[in-house]
Amino acid sequence: MIQEMRLCMGEYPDRFAKRKDELEYLYRKLYGDGRWYLDQLEQEMASFDAARSMELKELDKRREANSGWYKDKHMLGVTMYVDLFAGNLLELEEKIPYLKEMGVTYLHLMPILKMPQTDNDGGYAVEDFNLVDSRFGSNGDLENLTRTLRKQGISLCLDFVMNHTSSSHEWAKLAQEGDKEFQLRYLCYPDRTIPDQFEKTVPQVFPGTAPGNFVWSEKMGMWVFKSFYPTQWDLNYRNPVVLNEMIYSMLRLSNLGVEVFRLDAVPYLWKELGTTCRNLPQVHVIIRIIRLVLECVCPSVILKGEVVMAPGELAAYFGTLEKPECHLLYNVSTMVNLWAAMASQDARLLKFQIDDLLSLPSNCDFLNYLRCHDDIGWGLDEDKERQLGIDPLGRKIFLYRFYEGKFPGSYARGELYNYDAISQDARSCGTTASLCGVEAALQSGDKADLEMALRRFMLLYSTMFSLRGFPMISSGDEIGQLNDYSYKKDSGKRNDSRNLHRSGYDWRKARLRHDLRTIEGKVWSGLENLREKRVSTVCFDSDAMVSTWDAQNSHVFALRRMKDGKTLLVVSNFSDFEEQVKFAYFIGEYRDMFSGRLVTPGWGFTLKPLEYLWLEQVGDQKKE
Ligand code: GLC
Repeated sequence: MIQEMRLCMGEYPDRFAKRKDELEYLYRKLYGDGRWYLDQLEQEMASFDAARSMELKELDKRREANSGWYKDKHMLGVTMYVDLFAGNLLELEEKIPYLKEMGVTYLHLMPILKMPQTDNDGGYAVEDFNLVDSRFGSNGDLENLTRTLRKQGISLCLDFVMNHTSSSHEWAKLAQEGDKEFQLRYLCYPDRTIPDQFEKTVPQVFPGTAPGNFVWSEKMGMWVFKSFYPTQWDLNYRNPVVLNEMIYSMLRLSNLGVEVFRLDAVPYLWKELGTTCRNLPQVHVIIRIIRLVLECVCPSVILKGEVVMAPGELAAYFGTLEKPECHLLYNVSTMVNLWAAMASQDARLLKFQIDDLLSLPSNCDFLNYLRCHDDIGWGLDEDKERQLGIDPLGRKIFLYRFYEGKFPGSYARGELYNYDAISQDARSCGTTASLCGVEAALQSGDKADLEMALRRFMLLYSTMFSLRGFPMISSGDEIGQLNDYSYKKDSGKRNDSRNLHRSGYDWRKARLRHDLRTIEGKVWSGLENLREKRVSTVCFDSDAMVSTWDAQNSHVFALRRMKDGKTLLVVSNFSDFEEQVKFAYFIGEYRDMFSGRLVTPGWGFTLKPLEYLWLEQVGDQKKE
């Protein structure tokens, strides 16, 4: 016991002492010189440290010694809804062997904290940040699950929806009862004067399904700021109680064994009149404060930012090498560019965009993905598009119509999300398989179309797996699940087309995953192959050199990975036709890791429609 206490005291005070000055400086930057809230925060940090289990403290130490653990090539993520995949947390625990079979090391569960029965935006309207929703189980179940997962080498990621609470959260209820202290935790205004000023500069997230940035509260007789749905009230981070309380909830979840927090909608945290209320400098101060707090109390825990912003805004969320913020960000711009490249059969923008990402410092790590629970928002780099002679609005309209299946010749089956007739903006929904053409091919019964659709699926996945960062699969993709239109019959879901790709996991189909004659088997083994090849070569080590390469063909994307004198050339043909490529710089023979096909890149070779190759250099010829 005494030894345990020494251990706790031995590490926390050191960690805290190293960070105290910066933490206090940043806190004062937001909240001025008063010490009360800062003292309270510091006391609570020490209490959470004291309450942290020895097992988690051991993990903290291991991770401090290996702080880049999440960059490892063995990392493979999956994201899922607990109820749709398994039912509840206990049943999910029983499915761990399946996750192991998939090779998963990182499990992101969609929101599981207490939420209203209906109108909960898929759990993103949280009623209690300290309590698992009884539909999924209890806090004890969560703790047991994280422990079992950890033993199996799987880290659990949970959403931390810190921008807003549900309007039925206790704070919101007290605010509605007229308690001024709790009204100050939100942004409430008695009349339209300030809301109207905000509306002049703040864009809308859901112009179609939940227009405007304010909701009228009849009970309070006030307008309340809401960036998302009317039942999601934005928190007032000018009030230090709000930041403190949210940090305590995060530490409580960390002590239950959560290893990664997905900072939901983090760019929206700070509001300022006359601005877009996105990406303001104070947001970065808040993230940095959170990072410092975690580094003191639970240094094994990392932050993943959900920053769905223009490409130029992303990098700031990593902070700097000296003062890092998020450990990971969703690679949203690559995701969008992959889908854009596939529809347009043009890989030029994708290359430019990946060049930009590869030029970022070494602390900028991305989580790569194709689909998640949200829509695909067509945020391409408009300046780059213009440089390439592409009209940004025209391209966006083409893309969402294409993935809606409305563009002539489109193979995709999907739906629009938040179409805005004035700006002509819209986003796209659908599962990977349906957007790639599997659904349409099954409907028409055309075998050749099905073959092309599956090639598209694997082309996207292979390109995504080859990038810097680690891949994450949206649950259901590993067996090629299609869109689920049943949401239209559910009054609670029908107004949100993102439900199209939030279907129940089909365990009946999953049983076919080892049968290579089935779609499930082809997709499962295709992804398994990518994962196995990724871990089998040093070229995927986290310190490998990665750069794009000019394939001298606008339909083809190419990437070079190098480590310890070995070279891997990844080539992806986004065209429905055969394409010629030539890589003059690459001398000698290369072998495709999947098919064994031999090519000589320097002489040029032909790619089949939608073909991808991971070319390993044969022998040890030097190229440079
Ligand atoms: C994030 C979530 C999305 C949710 C929104 C509001 O963007 O991914 O599903 O609607 O935040 O919380």
